[in-house]
Amino acid sequence: MDKVRKTVKHIRRDFTYDTLDENEAPKNPLDLLHKWLEEAIKAELKEPNAFVLSTVNNAQPDSRVVLLRDAREEGLEFFTNYSSKKGQDLTHNNLVSINFFWVELDRQIRIHAKVDRLASHLSDEYFASRPRASQIGAWASNQSHKLKSRASLEDRITEIESKFEGQDVPRPDFWGGYLAVPSYYEFWQGRASRLHDRIVYEQMDDNWEMKRLYP
Ligand SMILES: Cc1cc2nc3c(=O)[nH]c(=O)nc-3n(C[C@H](O)[C@H](O)[C@H](O)COP(=O)(O)O)c2cc1C
Repeated sequence: MDKVRKTVKHIRRDFTYDTLDENEAPKNPLDLLHKWLEEAIKAELKEPNAFVLSTVNNAQPDSRVVLLRDAREEGLEFFTNYSSKKGQDLTHNNLVSINFFWVELDRQIRIHAKVDRLASHLSDEYFASRPRASQIGAWASNQSHKLKSRASLEDRITEIESKFEGQDVPRPDFWGGYLAVPSYYEFWQGRASRLHDRIVYEQMDDNWEMKRLYP
């Protein structure tokens, strides 16, 4: 334990992968998100579409990783169990923070957004495209609630498999998508000697205003 404590104190490297210049940055932050996602995918990073989603409930923030499934003008899409901890948090407070981190690209994106449930036909469409085992898993998992044992989860899987045998698995009404509508983006590109580039886009009426922050 002492060793790891000493080691973490001194882990450091310089960030030199790329630069971010406001004169070359697109007017619309969605275009830059697309560009950075594309580069993360091209670089064959693991889980290039994963982001940390932070919610707040009763003034207590909580964070977990989820997968981005679409990023379009209307918002950023992700899917989950509506009765999960995050689902309950979002019922009480639909303001979230989103954080993408691509370590190999020395890049981070911070987003503030307002979240609403996705239209149910879009959730149906996405659910239908998932592998059958994931569809069964969605039915079996009472996500974030107390589970007696691994064996009881496996029993539920067997039960649900036989319930839907020989037919398509319908989307459970407790599972579906959310659309996060951003009002603020910060694109962070690590630079040498901790002098990073930070470009912020803030929504002002129909326009995005851009500014640079001190690192
Ligand atoms: C790489 C990765 C991707 C994940 N993707 C999702 C996802 O798309 N949807 C989801 O509900 N949980 C996903 N999870 C699991 C969540 O991080 C979390 O454990 C789960 O959603 C329960 O969170 P909650 O109790 O805060 O609701 C993912 C975890 C990791 C590490």
